[in-house]
Amino acid sequence: MSEKFFDLSGQVALVTGTSRGLGQYLARALARAGADLILTSRKRDTLSEFEQEIRAMGRKVLSLELDVRDHASIQSMAQQAEAAFGQIHILVNNAGCNVRKPALDVTWEDWNLVLDTNLRGSFFVAQAVARGMIARGYGRIINIGSVTSVFGFAGLAPYGASRGGIRQLTMSLADDWGRHGVTVNCLAPGWFRTEQNKVLYEDPEWVAYITDRIPVKRPGQPHDLDGAVVFLASEESRYVTGQTLLVDGGISTGATRATVARK
Ligand SMILES: NC(=O)c1ccc[n+]([C@@H]2O[C@H](COP(=O)([O-])OP(=O)(O)OC[C@H]3O[C@@H](n4cnc5c(N)ncnc54)[C@H](OP(=O)(O)O)[C@@H]3O)[C@@H](O)[C@H]2O)c1
Repeated sequence: MSEKFFDLSGQVALVTGTSRGLGQYLARALARAGADLILTSRKRDTLSEFEQEIRAMGRKVLSLELDVRDHASIQSMAQQAEAAFGQIHILVNNAGCNVRKPALDVTWEDWNLVLDTNLRGSFFVAQAVARGMIARGYGRIINIGSVTSVFGFAGLAPYGASRGGIRQLTMSLADDWGRHGVTVNCLAPGWFRTEQNKVLYEDPEWVAYITDRIPVKRPGQPHDLDGAVVFLASEESRYVTGQTLLVDGGISTGATRATVARK
C-alpha cells in the first residue's frame, strides 16, 4: 500500500472509449494520480494525440482497438492489454452511446444499438478483465452510469434502461466478485458537454433551463469527475462496493422537475 492517499503509481488502468469526451477526462485524472493507461477506440488512430499527452505526463500508455458490440474484439483487447502490462488493476467501463427520441419513435435497431453498447458491452468487458483481477485477488471496476441510472427522463427510454441496468449490474458484480478482492462501483455523471449531447448545448434556451435546475448552477466541467474516479480507483475505496456515486452538481435532488431530453 502506498504511503500517500489516492496514489495510483504502478497501477494499470484500462479506460474504454477514450477518443474524446468523458473517457479522456477520466483517463487524464487517473494518469495524474500516477496510473499507466490503456486507451481504446473503434479507430485506433483517433487515440494518437491523446496517447502522446498521457506519455508526456510520464506514464506508460498503450492504445488498442475495441468495439464493445463485438465479443471477439473485447476478448482480443483484454488479451493484448494483459500481455502488454501483465496486470490490469483498474477498469473504467466508459464507452457508450445514446439515441435521444420520443419513446414512440424508437426503433428495434435504436434499442439494440444502445443496449448492446452500454449494457452488454460493459458486462463483457468487465467479465474479460475481471478474470485476471480475480486470479490476482485485486481489482477496481468503475462502470459509468448516469443520472438516468436512477431517474427517468422523457426521450431517453433505451438510454435510461441501459443506465438503470448498469446500476443493477454493478450491484450484482459487486456481490459476485467482492470475495476476490474486486470492487465494482458505478460513477454516474450529470450533464457534461461532449459530442454525445452537443445538440442540446447548442441551444442557449436549453442551457439556461438545465443550468437553472442544477443546484450548483452550472453544467459539469472536465475536472468535475476527477476526485470521484480517483477515489473509486484507489486502495482507499476498499470497503465501498456496489454503490452508485452521482456526480451531477446536485441535479438528482430535483430530477423530477427537469424535463431535459425533449430534443
Ligand atoms: N456527456 C454526459 O453528460 C454524460 C453523462 C452521463 C453519462 N455519460 C456516459 O459517459 C460515457 C462517455 O460519454 P461522452 O459524453 O464522453 O460520449 P462521446 O463523446 O460520444 O464518447 C463516447 C465514447 O465511447 C466510444 N464508443 C462508442 N461506441 C463504442 C463501441 N461500440 N465500442 C467501443 N467504443 C465505443 C467512442 O469511441 P469511438 O467512437 O472512438 O470508438 C467514444 O470514445 C458514455 O457511456 C455516456 O453515455 C455521459
